[in-house]
Amino acid sequence: MRIFAHRGASGTRPENTLTAFTAAADAGATWVETDVDLAACGTPVLLHDTDLDRTSNLTGSLYTYTAAQLATADAGSWFCPDYAGEPVPTLDHLVTLANERGLSLNIELKSNEQGAERSHLLIDRVIAELAHLDPARQVIVSSFNHLLLAEFKRRAPQYAVGALFVAETFQPDWLSVLELIDAQAAHLEDRGLTCASVRALRQAGYGVNVWTVNSAARANELKNWGATGVFTDYPERLLHLES
Ligand code: G3P
Ligand code: CA
Repeated sequence: MRIFAHRGASGTRPENTLTAFTAAADAGATWVETDVDLAACGTPVLLHDTDLDRTSNLTGSLYTYTAAQLATADAGSWFCPDYAGEPVPTLDHLVTLANERGLSLNIELKSNEQGAERSHLLIDRVIAELAHLDPARQVIVSSFNHLLLAEFKRRAPQYAVGALFVAETFQPDWLSVLELIDAQAAHLEDRGLTCASVRALRQAGYGVNVWTVNSAARANELKNWGATGVFTDYPERLLHLES
């Protein structure tokens, strides 16, 4: 089972910062998950929310700031004063760290809210950044926006893709959805997940990666059900289950 450090080691570091990804690598993680959307200048940057209020000293929409402005933001103090001055990183920064530390990447494409043109640009820019990743590293690209994900897979079939579902959107049509995307995995919310669903997906040949799992007991249960991975904010708690 793969252990994905969710937004880096986000239980103990400010999420989606280089210090969070570095801490995950220091703990022994080999996979990290991150959220990617476009800054105003078209640079892919790492941020979970569309606005900056919760996780930085800036306010308002990500789409109004350039990567240069985000590089001088403080995305650490909200979490703890020890991390004051941690910037909002670019995907390029994470690719460099992944090459240095041997990290494989789950890139979650955020559902860009600016229309088709910027959504296509997000895909183009992510593909361009991933070309700089050491080929020995692995990649899974995921999204809740299945139209965006299908388009990504059409343009870059060399990368594995995982379709994200919340509990309410994982419906009996899952096989059709996964086949239409040409997905290799389902990335499922832990809430309400059943052994039968995990087994059906695995029997159909899909990976099953579950978010967000911070308890070793639950991660072990999911492993016994056949899950291929879990996303956790505390990789140090679960890495002993990696196989
Ligand atoms: O990719 C798994 C998980 O990150 C999806 O939910 O809201 O944490 O991006 P969220
Ligand atoms: Ca995510």
